Amino acid sequence: MCGIIGYIGNRSAIPILVSGLMRLEYRGYDSAGLALSVRGSLKVHKAAGKLFRLKSILPKRSGGKIGIGHTRWATHGAPTDINAHPHLSADGKTAVVHNGIVENAAELRSLLEDEGVEFVSETDTELLAHLIARETDASLEQRVGKALALVQGTYGIAVIHCDESDRIVVARHGSPIIIGVGDREMLVASDIAALVRYTQQVVHLDDGEIATLDAKGFRTMTMDAQPIPKSPSTVSWQDDAYERGEYAHYMRKEIFEQPAAIARTLSGRIEDRFHTAHLGGLNLEASDLRDIKRVKLLGCGSAFYAGVAGAHFIESLARIPASAEPAAEFRYRNPVIERDTLHVAISQSGETLDTLMAIQEVRRSGGPVLGIVNVVGSSIAREAEGGIYMHAGPEVSVASTKAYTCSLVALVLLALHLGRMRDLSIERGSNLIEALKRLPDDIESALATEDSLRDLAQRHARCSSAFYIGRGTGFAVALEGAQKLKEISYIHAEAYPSSELKHGPLALVGPELPTFMVMPHGAMLEKSIVSLEEVKARKGPVIALTHPGDARIARRADSVIEIPHTDDLLAPVVMAIPLQLFAYHCALALGRDIDQPRNLAKSVTVE
Ligand code: G6P
Repeated sequence: MCGIIGYIGNRSAIPILVSGLMRLEYRGYDSAGLALSVRGSLKVHKAAGKLFRLKSILPKRSGGKIGIGHTRWATHGAPTDINAHPHLSADGKTAVVHNGIVENAAELRSLLEDEGVEFVSETDTELLAHLIARETDASLEQRVGKALALVQGTYGIAVIHCDESDRIVVARHGSPIIIGVGDREMLVASDIAALVRYTQQVVHLDDGEIATLDAKGFRTMTMDAQPIPKSPSTVSWQDDAYERGEYAHYMRKEIFEQPAAIARTLSGRIEDRFHTAHLGGLNLEASDLRDIKRVKLLGCGSAFYAGVAGAHFIESLARIPASAEPAAEFRYRNPVIERDTLHVAISQSGETLDTLMAIQEVRRSGGPVLGIVNVVGSSIAREAEGGIYMHAGPEVSVASTKAYTCSLVALVLLALHLGRMRDLSIERGSNLIEALKRLPDDIESALATEDSLRDLAQRHARCSSAFYIGRGTGFAVALEGAQKLKEISYIHAEAYPSSELKHGPLALVGPELPTFMVMPHGAMLEKSIVSLEEVKARKGPVIALTHPGDARIARRADSVIEIPHTDDLLAPVVMAIPLQLFAYHCALALGRDIDQPRNLAKSVTVE
């Protein structure tokens, strides 16, 4: 969502803070700002809009070697210069950047107003600066700790004070804070993306912790100043993995990285000898896994749609009842949590608040929780008992592509593992394994459909609405296909199980409404052909996404996108690719901001 960066050391802070903000901009991008401590006072620069607006107003030179910066995705207050972070206390001596939401903001605001504080912004963050400034303790960390004791809600914050310009104080409750340990310099950020250019050594704060950074090191403690010693761990992602390179957009780069990303998800996880998946990070005893009676998959957005497909994989291979649910719905409906239900949280960032809160709810009830997560060391990865890292590499484009397909592959591996512990046959296990090994090549072939998808996009980009339909796992793919189109092209798109067409949506079908039909060969093909006829009978244009070899589809559909035959269970992975390319080329034809679509953020760390 929003992004935090901070620097203290011997170098000029502005270029380092700006390069950090550039790496964070994908998380939130409606305003940005930074505060520097320069010769006993704070200098603040902020601008509404994207980061280039802030860059254009920054001084060429500044003596500041300590500073904090922020890129915002508005919650309290419109995206204006004034509402941009950092926010200052009334005396101008304390500056704060904040991710998260102060839930008792109204109450604290009136408390401060009663004490005579005049607010300049509409944000909840400003009150944090005033709360810290009204404490009287000698050290900044003590004042921060006392002020935060009054706050309900979530926060990751970084604070500087012009009279204590040898330190940055940071604190975390529900919103990530990661310290970067450099050579006689220290950084802090809400996302490792902003740190890896400077250091690979990081320390994750846990909820309820404060840290003080100076140029030589850091001290971590509880909110009431009890020391909690922590040592750095090494991040494997390098800075160049965040570069866009020759690609016009991160989204296209990430689409084309899928063969390599999926090969990494599979790497070391296939156990040919036992025709199963080797998943070293589950941290659950085989007997616990064998006792599981149900699987519940939780996630938001594309991660939830991956879960919808994952439920099919698990039921098909392991014959365990499985279902997917949006994490926020699950969390608030007083769910029945049984100890023999395995909950699996799916999240690229590992920071999505609703998903994190949902699994905290499960853990409170004692149920086992696994994470399928991309970002190593992220909050969800740390909260879950164990899990499967996607190893997709950094995903920067807001619209998920490679993390979606890598989570599908991780879910197939989990389903295979659970299946082979039960009664999945050697033959089925080994067929699937052979297909998994071919998957990166199949993805390459699917990527080769790009020219056809570009042509199709040019033909359909000006439609006002589109349908995506499929059966079984085809419906799961349709959900994600419609999501991609909506997110980045802003074309209205809806997904339905093909069987549901005649129960309502068919009323809308006509020459103006293209229907993308996901039609893998397999048990449901004949039924899908009936749906194709239903749409054609209403003169609806049909784009069929299928495998080669069925003359009926070629005859009746207006356009056919063919992808290689694969195992039925892996068809959703391969079929996702043309849908990503179609959405990308529609958005390109419409001149959209593909990597940073309006109103969205990569990682939603607020409710
Ligand atoms: C946001 C993004 C989506 C993403 C969802 C879940 O809404 O815009 O693309 O699918 O969050 O993110 P996660 O990091 O938990 O996978």
